[in-house]
Amino acid sequence: MAAPVSEDGKGLRGEACSFLPGGAAPYGNFPDYSRFHPPEWRLQLLPAALLSQLFPSPRAGPLLGLDVGCNSGELSTALYRHLLGFGKSDASHMCSVPEKDLYLLCCDIDPGLIERAKKSSPFPGAISYATLDIMDAGAREVLLSSYLSRFGRVAFDICFCMSVTMWIHLNHGDSGLVKFLSCLASQCTYLLIEPQPWKCYRAAARRLRKLGRNDFDHFRSLTISGNMAEEITQILTKGCAMELVCCFGSTSWDRSLLLFKSKEIRSLL
Ligand SMILES: C[S@@+](CC[C@H](N)C(=O)[O-])C[C@H]1O[C@@H](n2cnc3c(N)ncnc32)[C@H](O)[C@@H]1O
Repeated sequence: MAAPVSEDGKGLRGEACSFLPGGAAPYGNFPDYSRFHPPEWRLQLLPAALLSQLFPSPRAGPLLGLDVGCNSGELSTALYRHLLGFGKSDASHMCSVPEKDLYLLCCDIDPGLIERAKKSSPFPGAISYATLDIMDAGAREVLLSSYLSRFGRVAFDICFCMSVTMWIHLNHGDSGLVKFLSCLASQCTYLLIEPQPWKCYRAAARRLRKLGRNDFDHFRSLTISGNMAEEITQILTKGCAMELVCCFGSTSWDRSLLLFKSKEIRSLL
């Protein structure tokens, strides 16, 4: 079996992904993603008190989060711990923090990754995992609205979209990326997004060619290119009624962590 290779073109040993043998991972569904892009690299940029800063007023119910493209759940779990202020190495603390303050729905297109996430979840009461192709409007509507209705809600408080935009863009083209961003914007009050830089697109296309497969359907026809953090900011702020709240900086692997807020009032929904 060929060794899987990361989005940045670095080598990595690991098991085959569920979709194609040999590590092609056409959706970014790498089975060992968190091994070569550890959650901590992203989380150290995020204030642990983020949720109380964003939602200072007392609320009747819990905060609801949506993690799109959760892979096998390592980042979702780490985010959950980080945002609830759990001590990193203090295992006893894990149980004492009430799970009722934050609920996460985490979805991924790859059922094998979701299976793994479910099996290893330390917080099954608070973090739910589901297989979903977020670009499938019918399936998305069914899953998201049934989840939200359990809490009497119609939108999420915060959506996480970490290292997913490139895969949507490569597989669905410019119009798919715009639809995706507009869909996320319509589902939440805050959107935390980590776009892959353009160099990752080239690395992903190169990897596919090396594996003897055809290019991504849309790679050569993409007109949205270059500074992807800037392009995505333009789409969200000009076409999706969002405003940029802040950029938490860039990871050592050159990815910005951007926080947007909806200009539409969703907090009472
Ligand atoms: C590079 S991984 C990022 C994983 C995780 N968010 C992180 O940052 O650690 C991208 C994930 O997006 C998922 N993905 C790609 N296209 C998707 C789609 N259309 N619907 C849902 N998930 C998708 C892949 O299966 C993969 O697990």
